[in-house]
Amino acid sequence: MSTPTQKPAANREIKIFPDVNAIAKRAAELIVESAASAVAQNGRFTISLAGGSTPKTLYALLAAEPHRSKMPWDKTYLFFGDERHVPPDDPDSNYRMANESLISKLSLKPDQIHRIHCENPVEKAAQDYEQDLRTFFKLAPGQLPRFDVILIGMGDEGHMLSLFPGTKALQDNGRLVLPNWVGKLYTERVTITAPVANNSALAIFMVTKADKALALKGVLEGPYEPEQLPSQLLRPANGKVIWLVDTAAAGKLAPGTAQTA
Ligand code: 6PG
Repeated sequence: MSTPTQKPAANREIKIFPDVNAIAKRAAELIVESAASAVAQNGRFTISLAGGSTPKTLYALLAAEPHRSKMPWDKTYLFFGDERHVPPDDPDSNYRMANESLISKLSLKPDQIHRIHCENPVEKAAQDYEQDLRTFFKLAPGQLPRFDVILIGMGDEGHMLSLFPGTKALQDNGRLVLPNWVGKLYTERVTITAPVANNSALAIFMVTKADKALALKGVLEGPYEPEQLPSQLLRPANGKVIWLVDTAAAGKLAPGTAQTA
């Protein structure tokens, strides 16, 4: 078994859980803690939601007791890390998934939900969302938004957000949000760029299923080659990354890479 070639970063934790339910429970606890601290410090809590299927269990937990009433929902602002180029009611929409499992169960005000408007042409959707981030976070030119929490999933080939291997949006070119053609899926996406994700206070990666085991090993233990494994781009300068992975996804990790929760 090859030994890990990456020095573990001081601000990175990798924990192994039995299944997605245990991951969701831990993620919910982390979110409740972060929300309380953010509201105490800044009077609000900002979180960027992930798409895909893994987060559904977490969103359902946050919408129900005991976590629901522990969350400062009236001071919480929801954002999205990426979106498919479909309308918000499309079965593929990340917003639709989050709305069905969480948002529709809360009584948030419209200005608390910052959706990526992918019913529009993809460049306009990206520009509008970037402007929304600039306005909400009151950004000066060159400044990055700082989410209190960003939720991220990893694909079975190591993509994160909609930053897929070999795609143009891996080069941020100073943008906060970019459209991204993903040839292997024959589709457009809109995604925040890696510098935005890296400016978050806490990034929570949730990775499940055995089909991700090799990519996860590559991301955590292999050489730093983010063109191949874009999840390696997540290296926050002044934030923390917590990987919550299930036993199946952790199946190929070398001893010592991760700790069993
Ligand atoms: C998307 C997500 C994507 C997702 C991973 C993992 O729009 O699909 O942003 O990056 O997080 O593909 O997806 P699962 O959670 O379904 O494994």
